[in-house]
Amino acid sequence: MCGIFGYVGKKNNAAEIVLEGLKRLEYRGYDSWGVVVEDKACLRVERKAGKIGEAKVSLPSSHVGLGHTRWATHGGVTVQNSHPHLDCTETIALVHNGIVENFSELKKELKEKHRFTSETDTEVIVHLLEDLIQTKNFSEAMREAFKKLIGLNAVVSLKGNQLVVAKNGSPIVLGFGEGEFFVSSDASAILPYTKNVAFLEDNQAAVLDASGIKVFNLSTGVEIEPKTQKLDWEPESAELGNFPHFMVKEIYEQPKILEGIIKTSSRQVEELADFIRSSYGAFLVGCGTAAHAALTGQYLFSRIAKRHVNFNVGSEFGYLEHFLTPRSLVVALSQSGETIDIIDSIKLALEKGAKVASLTNVLGSTLYRMSDYKILLGAGPEKSVCATKSFTAKIALLFLIASQLSGTGKEGVRILEQTVREIKRLLDKETVEKIEKLAEKIKDKNHIYIVGRGLSYPVSMEAALKIKEVSYIHAEGFPGGELKHGVIALIEPETPCLVFAPNDETYGGIISGAMEMKARGGHIIGVSFKDADVFDDWIKVEDTGDGTAITNSIVGQLLAYFLAVKRKCDPDKPRNLAKSVTVK
Ligand code: AGP
Repeated sequence: MCGIFGYVGKKNNAAEIVLEGLKRLEYRGYDSWGVVVEDKACLRVERKAGKIGEAKVSLPSSHVGLGHTRWATHGGVTVQNSHPHLDCTETIALVHNGIVENFSELKKELKEKHRFTSETDTEVIVHLLEDLIQTKNFSEAMREAFKKLIGLNAVVSLKGNQLVVAKNGSPIVLGFGEGEFFVSSDASAILPYTKNVAFLEDNQAAVLDASGIKVFNLSTGVEIEPKTQKLDWEPESAELGNFPHFMVKEIYEQPKILEGIIKTSSRQVEELADFIRSSYGAFLVGCGTAAHAALTGQYLFSRIAKRHVNFNVGSEFGYLEHFLTPRSLVVALSQSGETIDIIDSIKLALEKGAKVASLTNVLGSTLYRMSDYKILLGAGPEKSVCATKSFTAKIALLFLIASQLSGTGKEGVRILEQTVREIKRLLDKETVEKIEKLAEKIKDKNHIYIVGRGLSYPVSMEAALKIKEVSYIHAEGFPGGELKHGVIALIEPETPCLVFAPNDETYGGIISGAMEMKARGGHIIGVSFKDADVFDDWIKVEDTGDGTAITNSIVGQLLAYFLAVKRKCDPDKPRNLAKSVTVK
């Protein structure tokens, strides 16, 4: 979704700093961009439709700048609709994330005396500000303008040598450097400059200038001491290093992340297990890949802890509110901690008096701040739009929590350690080359079907999602038992059928399904601890008990990656997708 980056401070190349910041936000997904700087009491703007790529800006030197990457909602992908937007006097610039729900009403009133140049909802805010600034100072005018907006929004405006921020929705991070200050929608973009950050809360505003950052209550205007925190991410963790893409870099980071989880999470695992134990009705919610992690969790809690923990996708959760009571526990899974359907789910849970626990990767994210209990995934910045390492980190934690609940915590750790060794073997040359060759073989197919049973069912859906997202091949993951109920009608000679056949109670059933697909001419690719006659291709994954769900997922990730590369798709920035979905 849209990205914001602003700079004010000692350096005079604000435009370049802002452009670099925007590049670091590219992964969030966008279709146009723009930068504004202040130059001798005038504003200089450059805006473009399309990707930043190798673009440079030819803006004058300045100590204050503001930029935006836009993901179109109101109005097409055009230069006129891209941010920053200016007021009629061209002395105020403004960028915005979110949706102004009452924009048509506001526009109707403002149109009488203001010149509108875009179709966006954003432009109404800058004209509102233009009116209010006649009688108020910049920060007061911003607070007043913001109060007139309906919807969840984050807004940053530049006037003179100040940046003013207000928010009640999308994330905003403030960065405190040495004589320089930053505002961004994402902490990883600030990381090269400073690790000292404060996450602006909803209903707060901030003023940034060369002397520092002041934070205010948006409604009352009363100054608040910002809660600064130190990021524990290393700047290079957000860079590509020697890898061609973030997706493959992040796939390779997984053993280290899981080792970190084993080493550092035991206390939190015990505490969350206690929370689940004492709840009366626990729910796991997530969207997309996080939903697949949540469904995996449902299987893990059932198998290991003999406990029913309900799963649902975030966008459907609201329709199940009738089950929530003050004794319920909602465990929300979200890499970004900003996904709107998750935030809405937990708001609902909190309104019902339920407790909320979260597994998120982003310190200070909205989910992190709203949760009664939180565990950080510790996966470092995930820059590829396609989630990989955050998925396996969530499963590892859920596996440890389920083991803890069943009183087999130590055994859980042993299995996870064994799984990490197997991942390292998988990521070694031989298997990776085999998966790459397989991708070459099937890269021109239009459909791939993926089956698994039990714990391998969410793994199949996740593999299908990865393939769809990055290679644009239609892929479907479904439970092996459903084959005969319809999907088998789609199997034609040479249709690739990926079959997850781990050493568990699903083995017999899944091999029978593979035979049925083979009988219709399907090209059977087995992902299993042993070869079988029915497999046309076999990817060996050693048995590591329930940890095999993690290793099997990594096979799906690698296959998706190579399919994308071979089809000349950019795996890090899939079309139409955004890293964090902050609007409905
Ligand atoms: C994953 O590859 C996707 N890009 C997407 O499904 C993602 O997992 C989903 O939007 C949820 O994001 P979150 O974990 O940040 O909440």
